Amino acid sequence: MRIALGSDHAGYSLKEEIKAYLAEQGIGYQDFGTFDTTAVDYPDFALMVAEAVAGRQYDCGILTCGTGIGVTIAANKVPGIRAALCHDTFSARASREHNDANILTLGGRVIGPGLAREIVSVWLAAKFAGGRHRRRLEKICAIEKKYSLSG
Ligand code: RB5
Repeated sequence: MRIALGSDHAGYSLKEEIKAYLAEQGIGYQDFGTFDTTAVDYPDFALMVAEAVAGRQYDCGILTCGTGIGVTIAANKVPGIRAALCHDTFSARASREHNDANILTLGGRVIGPGLAREIVSVWLAAKFAGGRHRRRLEKICAIEKKYSLSG
């Protein structure tokens, strides 16, 4: 499994924590930055990770910013991306099983490293359940298509 990682300055520490967790688990990743706590703009990093995941160079992505909200909004503008902001393990599992989320987003100013590790672990282990959820995802794709044609 290969994971694309990215953050802004406010999500930097949490990204480092997640990197440590992935390394401990022997899971491969590519860090798209940012690489320190100098202020940057979260859409730049969300875009890099979202394009890498949408282009299938990576299996999935994890993005962090202060709240997790900014990177979620930005990443979800890229066609094919389903970024889910999850600050609990129930949502993390459901975002994979029901929504087939391909990017997990987290807020570095919202949760601590212990919970973040558990969320990442649950999210990576969960699989899309298909069935009725597939029909709903197809409807999301149809919305994406409708607006990409008119845009
Ligand atoms: C940066 O101050 C902060 O606005 C950003 O990390 C994020 O929380 C935006 O949604």
